[in-house]
Order: sequence, then C-alpha cells, then structure tokens
Amino acid sequence: MEKKNGYHVAVVGATGAVGEQMLKMLEQRQFPLASLKVLASARSVGQTVTFNGEELTIEEATPEAFEGVQIALFSAGGSVSKKLAPEAAKRGAICIDNTSAFRMDPNVPLVVPEVNPQAMEQHGGIIANPNCSTIQMVAALEPLREKYGMERIIVSTYQAVSGAGAKAIQELHDQTEAVLHGNEVKKEILPVGSLPQKYQMAFNAIPQIDVFLENGFTNEEMKMTRETKKIFSDETIAVSATCVRVPVVKGHSESVYVELKNEYDLAEVRSLLENAPGIVVQDNPEEQVYPMAIDAADKIETFVGRLRRDLDHPRGLHMWIVSDNLLKGAAWNAVQIAEELVKRNLIKE
Ligand code: A2P
Repeated sequence: MEKKNGYHVAVVGATGAVGEQMLKMLEQRQFPLASLKVLASARSVGQTVTFNGEELTIEEATPEAFEGVQIALFSAGGSVSKKLAPEAAKRGAICIDNTSAFRMDPNVPLVVPEVNPQAMEQHGGIIANPNCSTIQMVAALEPLREKYGMERIIVSTYQAVSGAGAKAIQELHDQTEAVLHGNEVKKEILPVGSLPQKYQMAFNAIPQIDVFLENGFTNEEMKMTRETKKIFSDETIAVSATCVRVPVVKGHSESVYVELKNEYDLAEVRSLLENAPGIVVQDNPEEQVYPMAIDAADKIETFVGRLRRDLDHPRGLHMWIVSDNLLKGAAWNAVQIAEELVKRNLIKE
C-alpha cells in the first residue's frame, strides 16, 4: 500500500490478537499512512489481512523489512521485539513496543499519553507501551494523583483471556463448549507460566498471570508495581497487585484501593474523573450503574465506577476500573503514542 502525505508504518505481529486491533485502530483513527507493512512469522507469509477494504499480504518480520519504515508497532512477543526493534531503530524507525522487553530499560520511555506524554521526547528509537493492567489503572488514577498526591495503591485484577493471545481466546471458547456438552475439557494454554501444568479457564478464576517470582508475586503483578512507579516518576509510591485471569474474552476489570496524600472530597473526585481525558465515569449505585467488561469491549475509553470512601482510612478511596485490554491496554495506547509523535513532530522524514 503506497500513498503520498503520510508515514511509512509497519505492524509486527499483524496476525495476532493485539496486531489485529492495531490495524483496526490505525483504520478507525485514519492515521496518516504513506504505506503499511503487515509483518508476522515465516508461518504466516502469504496470508492476507484486510485494511480499509484492501487486502494486504503478510511479510516475514526480518531486519531488512524495516528499510524505509518510520513507525513500527510491535506486538509479537518479547523475544521478537528484543531481536528486531533495535534493527528497526537502526534503520530509522521509531518502535512502539507492546511487549515487556524494554519497559524497565532506563533509556526507554514508558508512556501513557494521558499521564506522561513528555517522556517520549527522550526516545532513542524505542518507546515502550506499558502492561495492559497498568495502563488503565494509571490513566484513571493520574487526575487524583495530580490533585491530592498518592501514597499507596492496592489492586486486584480480573483479567480477560485475550491478554494471553488469540490461542487463549480459542481455548476459552472450546472449553466452554466442552463443559456445556459434557465433553472432555482440553487444557493447553492457561495459565502461561514456567511449568507444564495447565488449568481449566472456563467457569473458573485462576490467580496466576505469568510466572511466579521469588517474592511470591507473579511477573504480571510486579510489572504493575514497577511500571506504575516508572510512569508516575515516583519510586516512593507503594503498589501491590494480585492478578487473576477470569473467563472473560475482552476487558480487564480492576478493584483498586488508593490512599491519597491529602484529604479529598468525593464529589470533587468524581468531577476530576469526569473531566479527565479518556475517562468515563459510570457510577450510580441507585440505578445499578457501574463499569462492566462486556460494555467496555471495543471502546477506547477507560471506565470508572463504584467510587466510595474507605470505612476506616480517612484518605482511602475504593474504585472499579474497566477497559478493553486489547485497545487502551495495548493497540489504542500504541496508536495514541504514534499520534502524539506526529503532534510533537518527532518522526524523522
Ligand atoms: P504468526 O501468526 O505468524 O505466528 P498472539 O499474541 O495473538 O498469540 O499473536 C502473536 C503474534 O506474534 C502473531 O502475529 C504471530 O505471528 C507473531 N509472531 C510470533 N512469533 C513471531 C516471530 N518469530 N516473528 C514474527 N512474528 C511472530
């Protein structure tokens, strides 16, 4: 696909769950494209994907594929990013990487545009997209942190299977059908950990996302801790997470408890959130209005509700934060970074 007046863009992992949404976001946002390359593994070469009604043929992601590319969106796993993002950057591309490969690299900005867009000015060819659970949480907490300061965050997540990729979505469908028909339930994908042991996801909740670390937390949980500190540029903020996989296809939900530094007013909290970019407040207990994954699916906003004061801690606040993990949690945040790069004139001609 070649056009004038726009940017040369590549999507790496274009056949995957997030890659597909990246293409959808570029399409929906009418991102100014001069050309679009869709890259994946050698296995998918020759397959096609549809973009703006046009069939695009998948090419293999190789170092040479990035010649002439100005923006490369990566979502093909950490090892692919580690290998190919430096190659793409060497060839002049700015890589927006959705994997965890570079997130904690001090030379790589970790960006949520509603929180720290200025960080991308310091990029050296790679900008990291945070973990899905971190993105929606910090986007919703930023207006409160800015106003009152924030001491501590305790979060429990209820995460959709799409976060583990297209195969995990298929597994949930297959297992659900197997249970309903009384057939044998095959367990092959979840949880994604270091052991071969797998568990049934259908009609279950699995308190493990990613591998366990020596401190008893999982890697996903520690990502939320470390990434939040980095995005907020605040090593003193206390962050503890419990990450749980639930049988939902799209949309992560989070029960978040925060302790603010200063006294707050609940009505003011509501109004700060209502006026925050990308945030939608859905909070009316009388009418049973609150955010739900099923409603947040396919939307780019982050939804907040169940706002309530802690019963004991005067500066404690409880909330429920929901967003589409493939969109704000991945593809939309990445395309939003690309839009911000354009706005800030950071893309090389
Ligand atoms: P492929 O379909 O060719 O395997 P998901 O997260 O949904 O599982 O998707 C993973 C994405 O990463 C897919 O697009 C997949 O392409 C891509 N991918 C996996 N391994 C590689 C690789 N070695 N090189 C390039 N892309 C890869």
